[in-house]
Amino acid sequence: MFDQTAFRNALGTFATGVTIVTARDGGGKPVGLTANSFNSVSLDPPMVLWSLALSSGNLEAFRNAKNWAVHILAVTQEDMSNRFARGGADKFAGMDLDDGPEGAPLIRGCAARFGCRARFEYEGGDHAIFLGEVVDFEQTDADPLIFHGGRYGRLENRPNPD
Ligand SMILES: Cc1cc2nc3c(=O)[nH]c(=O)nc-3n(C[C@H](O)[C@H](O)[C@H](O)COP(=O)(O)O)c2cc1C
Repeated sequence: MFDQTAFRNALGTFATGVTIVTARDGGGKPVGLTANSFNSVSLDPPMVLWSLALSSGNLEAFRNAKNWAVHILAVTQEDMSNRFARGGADKFAGMDLDDGPEGAPLIRGCAARFGCRARFEYEGGDHAIFLGEVVDFEQTDADPLIFHGGRYGRLENRPNPD
C-alpha cells in the first residue's frame, strides 16, 4: 500500500516560500488562497505555475479567471498565510483592497508579486495546474517566509565568503 502520510512528509523536506494567489470570480468577488506549489517555468516568455486542489471552493473561479496574481509572502506575513489557508471564511474581510495592473486583488507588504494572464490549465491528479504569463511584477527587499516540514521558518543566510 502507498503510504500517503509518509509521502507527504517526504515532500515536506523540500523547503519552499509561501504565496497567496488571488483573482476575481465572475461576479467580481475577490478569491484567494495560500499556496506553496508555486514555481518559475519560463523566462521568455515569462511564465510561472502553481497548483490548486480540485476540492477547493475556488476551483471554478480560478478556472474562469482571465488573470491571477501570485504574492510571495514576507517573513512578517505568517498571519496572512494562515488567514488565506482557511477555507470558506471571507479571507479578505477588513482588508483595504485594490487590484494590481493585471486586475487581480493586491496584497500589500509582500517580498514580490507576479501579475499574470492565465494561459494554460493542466490535469495534475487531484490538483489542477495553472500556468500564467507574467504581465507585471514587483519586488521589495523584505525577507521571504519559508515553509518546510509543515512549519514556517525564516532564512539563515551563510556569512559572506569574502
Ligand atoms: C503553506 C501552505 C501551502 C499550501 N499550498 C497549497 C497549494 O499549493 N495548493 C492548494 O490547493 N492548497 C494549498 N494549501 C491549502 C490551502 O491554502 C487551503 O486548503 C485553503 O483553505 C484553500 O482555500 P479554498 O478552499 O477557499 O480555496 C496550502 C496551505 C498552506 C498552509
